[in-house]
Amino acid sequence: MSGLFITLEGVDGAGKSSHLDWLAAAIRARGRVVRMTREPGGTPLGELLREIVLHQPMHPETEALVMFAARREHLSQIIRPALAAGEVVISDRFTDASFAYQCGGRGLPEARLAALEQWVHGDLQPDLTLLFDVPTEIAAARLANAREPDRFEREQGEFHGRVRAAYLRRAAAYPMRIRVIDGGRTLDEVRSQLAVILGTLF
Ligand code: TYD
Repeated sequence: MSGLFITLEGVDGAGKSSHLDWLAAAIRARGRVVRMTREPGGTPLGELLREIVLHQPMHPETEALVMFAARREHLSQIIRPALAAGEVVISDRFTDASFAYQCGGRGLPEARLAALEQWVHGDLQPDLTLLFDVPTEIAAARLANAREPDRFEREQGEFHGRVRAAYLRRAAAYPMRIRVIDGGRTLDEVRSQLAVILGTLF
C-alpha cells in the first residue's frame, strides 16, 4: 500500500483540532495505519522550536526560517519514513500555514517562501489538504474561551482576516489538493463533509 499524506489547515479557531481524532479513527477503520503529527513540532527538536516560535518575539523572516527548520527535521524523521512504510500521515498544519501566516499574516513575499519550500520539500506535497474555513469573527469568539493565547492567537485586527484570505487563495490555486471544509457547521455536519471526502480517497 502506498503512503498518503493528509494535512489539516485553517485559521486559529477554525475547529480543525476537534476533528483530528475522528479523522484518524475513520481512516484506521478502513484498515490503514495512521501517523498523527503536527507543525511546528512533530519531533523532539521541532517541539523545542515550537515553544520558541509560539512565544518568543522575533523578526517575521526568522519566524519563517524556524518554521522551515522544524519542517526539515519533521520530514526526515517522521513524514518521509512513515510514507515510505505505507502509512497515512495526518499533519496538523504544514507548508500552507507558512504561506498563510508568514506571507498573508506577516506580509513576507511569497517568492521567499516558495524558495524555502523548494529547498525543503520540492519533491513532496500533501496528497490532500483539508482547509477548515470560518469567518474570522466566529474563530475569534471560539478563541476567546480558549487557554492562554500564543503569539499568533494574540494578533489583533486584520491579521487573521489576511491569514484566512491567503488560505482561500491557495485553495483556489490548488483546487485538486485543497478541499475547503465549512468549519462554521455543527460537528456532525462537518463529519459528514469529511466522510464524503474520505470516501473518494480509500
Ligand atoms: P496550532 O496549530 O493552532 O496549535 P494549537 O491548536 O495548539 O494552538 O498553533 C500553531 C500556530 O503556528 C498557529 O497559530 C499557526 C502558526 N504557524 C505558522 O505561523 N506558520 C507555520 O508554518 C505553521 C506550521 C504554523
